[in-house]
Amino acid sequence: MVRRKPLVVVTRKLPDSVETRMRELFDAKLNVDDVPMDQAALVEAVKTADVLVPTVTDRIDSAVLSQAGENLRLIASFSNGVDHIDVSSALNRGITVTNTPGVLTEDTADMTMALILAVPRRLAEGAQVMISDKEEWPGWSPTWMLGRRIWGKRLGIIGMGRIGQAVARRAKAFGLQIHYHNRRRLPSGIEEMLDATYWDSLDQMLARMDIVSVNCPHTPATYHLLSARRLKLLKSDAYVVNTARGEVIDENALTRQLEAGEIAGAGLDVFEHEPAVNPKLVRLARQGKVVLLPHLGSATLEGRVDMGEKVIVNIKTFMDGHRPPDRVLPAML
Ligand code: DGY
Repeated sequence: MVRRKPLVVVTRKLPDSVETRMRELFDAKLNVDDVPMDQAALVEAVKTADVLVPTVTDRIDSAVLSQAGENLRLIASFSNGVDHIDVSSALNRGITVTNTPGVLTEDTADMTMALILAVPRRLAEGAQVMISDKEEWPGWSPTWMLGRRIWGKRLGIIGMGRIGQAVARRAKAFGLQIHYHNRRRLPSGIEEMLDATYWDSLDQMLARMDIVSVNCPHTPATYHLLSARRLKLLKSDAYVVNTARGEVIDENALTRQLEAGEIAGAGLDVFEHEPAVNPKLVRLARQGKVVLLPHLGSATLEGRVDMGEKVIVNIKTFMDGHRPPDRVLPAML
């Protein structure tokens, strides 16, 4: 008997090499035009697919999952974060969920470091002056466009998993003092290697940091972890950087504080209502108080190809009757 290839529905355009491999291995239904799928299209997809390959722009909620056909046994997400999927609901229906951890760690940490440098050193503002039609570069001057030094300052990392640690390694090389808050304290060997100070109390850490970087996943426990109350604990000359998920920060509260000058600035690669961006944040960016990026943390060709390869390995392993390497387990949520 010839076993049919699994029907794999992919919701967004993936790198060409990944799509080619998927076509070879699976009965792949690709989205080569990259038109985002609405909820109705996602329902259609889960009704027919053996495997769904969604990504961060799709909302795979319990309403979508309730329509899943009997064939749907695997959701192999093209993403590290899985907050766009109702994982509990999927698992309750016997659907396995996988993600793509590890392969976007270094790229995301690079982008975090880029923002840690860009905001205090006024990189975006300076670059804008050089290409502006309205403003001409007046030439070097001892007091023009001064930023703030980052060397020797205290960096507080919220979430010391793979990405948090990769940020710490980079930041240490830039002379920052590493502090962190995490659900679990790191083994002492890693703390020593990173020269990292653990804070059991997030509140206490926040009050003492010069720069705070959000590197934890978005889960029900981390939603608005940086709440209005906690943001008020920050020093008035502190900077906030977020390359994780917008939902971890109360974005309205952050915006209010930036407008009031109660903190020095922010570098944001992610937003609470993505792709919508609070117009007040855009205004603050025009004033040079914040640097905004369009969720570019993992946006390298190499990273996206590696993510695609991970998705393929997860599907292949599952279809061969084994446990896929990147299963999302309830304890991770
Ligand atoms: C992910 O995979 O979760 C990232 O946010 C994409 O950049």
